[in-house]
Amino acid sequence: MGNNLNISIFGLGYVGLPLAVKLSKYFNVIGFDKNKQRIKDLKKFVDKNKEVSVAALKKAKLKYSTNKKDLKDINIFIVTVPTPVTSSNKPDLKPLLEACKNIGQIISKESIVVFESTVYPGVTEDICGPCIEKYSKLKMGKDFYLGYSPERMNPGDKLHSVDKITKVISGDNKKTILILKKIYGKVNSNKIFVAKNIKTAEAAKVIENTQRDINVAFINEITKLFKKINLNIFDVLKTAETKWNFLNFKPGFVGGHCIGVDPYYLAYLAKRKKIGSDLILSGRKINNNFPFFLSNYINNYLSRKSKILVLGLTFKENVSDLRNTKVTDLIKSLKKKGHKVYVNDTYAYKDEVKRMNLNITKLSIKDKYDSIILAVPHDNYKKLDYSFFKRKLNSKGVIFDLKAIWMNKKFPKNINYIIL
Ligand SMILES: NC(=O)c1ccc[n+]([C@@H]2O[C@H](COP(=O)([O-])OP(=O)(O)OC[C@H]3O[C@@H](n4cnc5c(N)ncnc54)[C@H](O)[C@@H]3O)[C@@H](O)[C@H]2O)c1
Repeated sequence: MGNNLNISIFGLGYVGLPLAVKLSKYFNVIGFDKNKQRIKDLKKFVDKNKEVSVAALKKAKLKYSTNKKDLKDINIFIVTVPTPVTSSNKPDLKPLLEACKNIGQIISKESIVVFESTVYPGVTEDICGPCIEKYSKLKMGKDFYLGYSPERMNPGDKLHSVDKITKVISGDNKKTILILKKIYGKVNSNKIFVAKNIKTAEAAKVIENTQRDINVAFINEITKLFKKINLNIFDVLKTAETKWNFLNFKPGFVGGHCIGVDPYYLAYLAKRKKIGSDLILSGRKINNNFPFFLSNYINNYLSRKSKILVLGLTFKENVSDLRNTKVTDLIKSLKKKGHKVYVNDTYAYKDEVKRMNLNITKLSIKDKYDSIILAVPHDNYKKLDYSFFKRKLNSKGVIFDLKAIWMNKKFPKNINYIIL
């Protein structure tokens, strides 16, 4: 392979596109995606995920394709396709296997295939490798090589981008590891950690996200308890955080396609190996139920059918990503209880919201509400102040600040301000 590294990124989503742009500074890179619209947009320098700016896309020496025939000179495949779960919360490896099939049909000898998609330990070597073998008639470890390098990007977080954080890499032999070090090291000034082997790297990634899910679940559980005894969870956390080793987690929705999904991959493996996964699945259950706890709490507090404005719909702050957002559970449940619920989100795309059978209510319209629920702390909501609440809330209106972002604001006299 020598110095001639031709890279293809398979799947240009939240993970793949920023990586492709960064790598294209140093290597020949073709971004491949099966979604024709995505490629069309990118050719016009539009990233609808808002992870990469128009300027950066214009500057990038990146080619795009939806046709695997364009990849015949590629010798490094980096796979960043989704790894969702099925409706029964089992790993859905279809996108991954489809990518492996496509790669298998075009891969040439000496190539390396690196997986970045989050999986459970064993998927790369025991499922993806054999799938590539099947379609290529080549032998892994002999004719082509495997690597796994987990992705740690955090959408909306410009501080911890791929070029700034430690990149874990792993490979099936020393040469693969050397090449991966060379590739990823270019992008992040050699902040590389070489995992002992591929399964260790896969395991590390899936436990990073599962650990977060369990920690948030613990905080969500004690939030319910402390509500019962009229203790403010944010006051309790502020106090506990003065201990040097208290972990800083906040209560809230756990949605999206990582933290709310990856623990099921681990639980699936545990079940197959006949090991219990009670803690992992309890965390999932607690976090999935949290929107319904909030809905009951809000409903009891309001004590009459109300007109409610929910601020924020995306799965987390400052992103447009609506996948698996738990705010919809809160909205549906409040509607079921007879409330009229409206939603605003400054990041979500109107057409995607429509597909969820919801409409975005503009903040500029003159309507007044009985209650405002801050569900997702987008930056622009943090700036809302006295005049907004006065304009938007009826007398005796109630604000439910689920993220405690307005704790230090002044409110009109006849308004109730409730922190989670
Ligand atoms: N988004 C994150 O914050 C994040 C962070 C760390 C890890 N991950 C993991 O990275 C992986 C990708 O996540 P994402 O958020 O970038 O997903 P995404 O849905 O944003 O992007 C995936 C892209 O892959 C394309 N695709 C799907 N199947 C394909 C195929 N067979 N061939 C070519 N393209 C295909 C889709 O069209 C899409 O554009 C997942 O395993 C996820 O768990 C995501």
